[in-house]
Amino acid sequence: MDLNSFTDQWQSQRQQLFKSVPPEGRTVRYLDKEFLVYPNTFWPFADSLPLVKHFRVAPGDHVLDVGTGSGVIGIFACYHGAARVVGVDINPAAIQSATHNVQTHGFAGVMEVKQSNLFEALGDERFDVITANLPFRNKPAHDMVAMSQWDTDFKTNTRFFEGVVRHLKPQGRIYYVQSNFGEFEAVKRLAQAAGLRTAELAREAIDDTRRQEFFVYEMTLA
Ligand SMILES: C[S@@+](CC[C@H](N)C(=O)[O-])C[C@H]1O[C@@H](n2cnc3c(N)ncnc32)[C@H](O)[C@@H]1O
Repeated sequence: MDLNSFTDQWQSQRQQLFKSVPPEGRTVRYLDKEFLVYPNTFWPFADSLPLVKHFRVAPGDHVLDVGTGSGVIGIFACYHGAARVVGVDINPAAIQSATHNVQTHGFAGVMEVKQSNLFEALGDERFDVITANLPFRNKPAHDMVAMSQWDTDFKTNTRFFEGVVRHLKPQGRIYYVQSNFGEFEAVKRLAQAAGLRTAELAREAIDDTRRQEFFVYEMTLA
């Protein structure tokens, strides 16, 4: 089976898993921490590991986490000493999960969670660090759960790059997750068109077969 068909099957199974969570939620272990996910939320997973293990957040930084899901990346930014973190997501289930996790990790005074289609609810606020683990693949998504993995006509990612620079401080950094089964060439072109310089910061395989890999790009204003 080619990588595309294999990934289709694997991601469809994961979407069923996200939907089958009981109403009271389910606890997922990630690195040395626990996160609760309510039904229809993307679970903390290997895709964000290269980002969470290698991103640079200085104490006092203001951080925006786009597509926050369970809130996992934003919460790690809080552990690094960020002064303010905003997590946005389009999916109400993700907002419920992230809000719960922010509270149980003790960061309700630091991290704000907002339902927002990308930057819509942000006004003109600018950040030192912007993190994004958006859907990697250009594939039609017919519901909110599919929208955590697939991006119809790659529109969300395209709009991300059209808008992101307006929310980045001049010396700011973007950490953006991609995969060898995603649209990484398109991402590099979109970043360049937005005036960003892109460098691969870290890469991890999902297992020993190394068939699926995840990587994180660090992007700065060129
Ligand atoms: C791959 S998941 C990542 C979740 C979390 N950041 C993590 O690393 O586990 C992608 C997330 O992006 C969200 N998303 C998709 N399209 C979006 C949009 N237009 N605006 C905001 N969030 C969006 C999805 O709902 C989903 O929670």
